[in-house]
Amino acid sequence: MTNQIKKLETIFYGATFDDFLLRPQHSMVWTRKEVDLTMPLTKSISINMPIIGANMDTVTREKMMNTLSLEGCFGFIDRNCSIEDEAARVKYVKTQHSFVIENPIVLYKKVTIREAKSVIKKKGVSGILLEDEPGKRVLAGILSHRDVLRSDEKDSHLVQEFMTPFKELVTAKPGISIGEAEKIMFRNRIEKLPLIDKKRRIKGLITMKDLRLAKQKPYSNKDKKGRLLAGAAIGASGDFMDRAEALIRAGADCLLMDVAHADSDVIKKAFKNFKSKFKGIPIVCGNVATGGGAKFLMELGADAIKVGVGPGRGCRTRLEVGAGVPQMQAIREAYLVTNGKIPIIADGGVKNDKDIFVAIAAGASTVMLGSMLSGTDESPGFITDDPVTKQRIKIYRGMTSPEAMADNSTLDNLEEALSTPQEGQSVKVPYVGSVVGVINRISGHLRSAVSYAGEKSLYDAHKKIAQNPEDFLIRLSLASQKESFDR
Ligand code: XMP
Repeated sequence: MTNQIKKLETIFYGATFDDFLLRPQHSMVWTRKEVDLTMPLTKSISINMPIIGANMDTVTREKMMNTLSLEGCFGFIDRNCSIEDEAARVKYVKTQHSFVIENPIVLYKKVTIREAKSVIKKKGVSGILLEDEPGKRVLAGILSHRDVLRSDEKDSHLVQEFMTPFKELVTAKPGISIGEAEKIMFRNRIEKLPLIDKKRRIKGLITMKDLRLAKQKPYSNKDKKGRLLAGAAIGASGDFMDRAEALIRAGADCLLMDVAHADSDVIKKAFKNFKSKFKGIPIVCGNVATGGGAKFLMELGADAIKVGVGPGRGCRTRLEVGAGVPQMQAIREAYLVTNGKIPIIADGGVKNDKDIFVAIAAGASTVMLGSMLSGTDESPGFITDDPVTKQRIKIYRGMTSPEAMADNSTLDNLEEALSTPQEGQSVKVPYVGSVVGVINRISGHLRSAVSYAGEKSLYDAHKKIAQNPEDFLIRLSLASQKESFDR
């Protein structure tokens, strides 16, 4: 493979999603279920569905992030709020589900049954780990639900009289895999598996209840500890370094350095500052819309690049400023320069599910969605009735719309910001119920597209088509666009 950048293929000049159809290939797929949709989000993180919730205050906050991760997708919580609020949203997601409870409740073995019962009730747990000496967290035993039943009418007795003592417990080392833990718990018919170090100190707890929950959502995106993945946005000026620090501390798995025009000196300086302080956390950078912009971010060291200037439903940049690149051309330019070395997130302009596949076929790894996710239960904001159409709606707004800017509690210069011409707008979107329905519909269409592409996984379809798009993508004439999409 040479390092020379391929020239942009003619089919991509001035092109966007509706300019293409996929040429159907011989299919080897028996059922759509067998099609794998895993794609890289960054150089080090893979996700099970290539959908990313946009970092917008009418799209991705804790509820959306939580559900997206549970369903195998990803998202970035927006930064249109204080550092504390954004960090708290990340923390919420990171503590919703996990297969290891890192800091289980521990009681001293000499507390009374009455005290233990009160803690069990208050915390809503079914059993409690007990320690030998107060505060030392050296495991002495477990007071299980069954032990509590046995102790009935003996509230003033000490828990140590009823606990299952350490010598009768099955324990494991911290770092045990979910599979191993499950085997041990099944084999020994236990509901709780304490994790301890060599000195018997409590390092965590695994419960059968949490393992069952993990199994109900087999596609969810989890970290090594079984916690849902969470992403969050920072800017490139002002408080961005403090914000990054707080978000990392809250447990964010990936950050997004997001500005409207990332092919800029502002990003160069911010990125270098970021990298000099924060090691090891993947950082996505955007937005750019040209090969030159993508090369710039790749050479800076971004772990993924976000591509798209002006295609979004809430954007007015193209209308007001006249700058931008048609989205399929932008994705392709970025892919040709990066040559698969770094994932591309295609951001904005997706109106139909087929746009997602076409973006991935041209070279994107994942696709960021704003408006398509915004009319759901999980997006922030209220459902109202449109007075004219009587339809149930929600409001979706660009992040530089006057409404979003006015709500931005972190802007010191709000008056000045509002008096400069805006490049974003608010729109009404139909209310469509839970985002889970939207994701299921998209995943069904993506699986079908992979089958039409003659592959069994989205990644293989992406690799095959992105390497030779002219063999697989048909550039449509105006008449064929009408034939395809006018209904
Ligand atoms: P969709 O089409 O999915 O687009 O709704 C989401 C993307 O739109 C971008 N965005 C903006 N662009 N002015 C802009 O020019 C804005 O106010 C604005 N707000 C969001 C952003 O990239 C998002 O992911």
